[in-house]
Amino acid sequence: MVQGTPTPYPPMPGGKPGEMLVPMRLQRYLARAGVASRRGSEGLMTAGRVRVNGQVVTELGTKVNPLADVVSVDGTPVSLETGNAYVLLNKPAGYVTTMSDPQGRATVAELVPRDRYPGLFPVGRLDHDTTGVLLFTTDGDLAHALLHPSHHVEKTYLALVRGTLSSGEQALVRAGMTLDDGPTRPAGLEQLEHEEYRDKSHHLTQGTWERITITEGRKRQVKRMFMSIHHPVVRLHRESFGPLVLGGLPQGEWRPLTDDEVTSLRDASSRQTPATTSGMR
Ligand code: URA
Repeated sequence: MVQGTPTPYPPMPGGKPGEMLVPMRLQRYLARAGVASRRGSEGLMTAGRVRVNGQVVTELGTKVNPLADVVSVDGTPVSLETGNAYVLLNKPAGYVTTMSDPQGRATVAELVPRDRYPGLFPVGRLDHDTTGVLLFTTDGDLAHALLHPSHHVEKTYLALVRGTLSSGEQALVRAGMTLDDGPTRPAGLEQLEHEEYRDKSHHLTQGTWERITITEGRKRQVKRMFMSIHHPVVRLHRESFGPLVLGGLPQGEWRPLTDDEVTSLRDASSRQTPATTSGMR
């Protein structure tokens, strides 16, 4: 355990570029190692389930030296080197969401550091022509929890649709509509600005940008929802996935998630929100 001024340690093997290991709070260490969210880790500590160098540690401010201290939970050693990787990609159009494609199409695998983080895979899927937030991880448990239908993780999209939705059509999207695979849950919808675009025959056509928030992840769901009310989607961009936003990340580029983002993702993945999402417009 660490006393006095924190000293940075060299990056751990396979660590992220520029990353230094510094003495860190035990709950942060546990969260980084993928044991639980930071709050969950605090619970483990106060329950007396965490030991450092064989001693039970319940004091939340305790710091550990990641290279020297042996941390265990319920007797099982926990190491940062076994921690998972979490990467956010700003997906460009023209890439399929798969790590390999038998038809030889360009895949998102080309855009993320799969050699540095073996086992990286995309959490969910964006269509070939959809852009924006796409999470990759090696953490199968977190991915499973994020995609689980009962957890209702919010996904927000900007969609340019043909024409303009009437107030009745907007109400339908918000309330939930019937698609061929069943009814949709209530969605958030905000009508933004109008924009003219060229259709497939190069005719100038009036469109409208809509911000839509859904809590499901059904195949091509946003496009099918707007298509069912005769406003096909012309362009689709995912603005956010749970707590994750691009934050200025250029298209085609990736960045590792911050510790706080991983913690918020864990929190979002374990939250059971009601079917009618409050705060949705
Ligand atoms: N809904 C769609 O229709 N397409 C996507 O890529 C994502 C959500």
